[in-house]
Amino acid sequence: MRRPTLFLMVGLPGSGKTTRARDLAREHSAVRFSPDEWMKPLFGSSDVDGRRDILEGRLIWTASQVLLLGGSAILDFGFWGRDERAALHWFASEHGAATRTMYTNADTETLLDRVNRRWRDDPGATWVMDADSFTEWRAAFQEPAEDELDGTWRPLPPPGFETWRSWMSDRWPTSVPQPAR
Ligand SMILES: Nc1ncnc2c1ncn2[C@@H]1O[C@H](COP(=O)(O)OP(=O)(O)O)[C@@H](O)[C@H]1O
Ligand SMILES: [Mg+2]
Repeated sequence: MRRPTLFLMVGLPGSGKTTRARDLAREHSAVRFSPDEWMKPLFGSSDVDGRRDILEGRLIWTASQVLLLGGSAILDFGFWGRDERAALHWFASEHGAATRTMYTNADTETLLDRVNRRWRDDPGATWVMDADSFTEWRAAFQEPAEDELDGTWRPLPPPGFETWRSWMSDRWPTSVPQPAR
């Protein structure tokens, strides 16, 4: 049996994450989790009062069930932050799975053209974006380094966190088991 794999889709809007994630889902019989496909139907917008984080946490939790059952899962979240990806590398290995970082990129003009074309074709799927936003986003985005992409990456938790488990329960409280009430 193939080793369960957690795929992390990394990249800015319009870089082709969801398109690539659909292909990976078919190639690897992996379950795909794309928050954009959940946010609008559930809440009418791509982010409402931190609900995206709540949803992402539950999708991570659901992906962990897939991994424990021997399947593979795809988190199509964008993952701009290095620590987010590092935490999920740890999380996957805790569930007996490998991690693969799938990085998609294109120049800003191409991204802008794609997202606006996508919006014209299907206004319900995403939203309008402008060039200034892309400049800001690119500055905030932390590009994956070579060791992250080749799977040898074993980073330590950032200052203030003893373990990746504690980092994850801070970033995505709903991704870890909830205390019984
Ligand atoms: N490699 C590519 N070349 C050209 N167009 C692409 C490519 N990948 C995706 N697209 C198109 O660009 C738009 C954005 O792609 P999408 O996969 O939704 O990006 P993301 O999920 O990263 O926001 C879609 O309309 C898609 O069909
Ligand atoms: Mg997408």
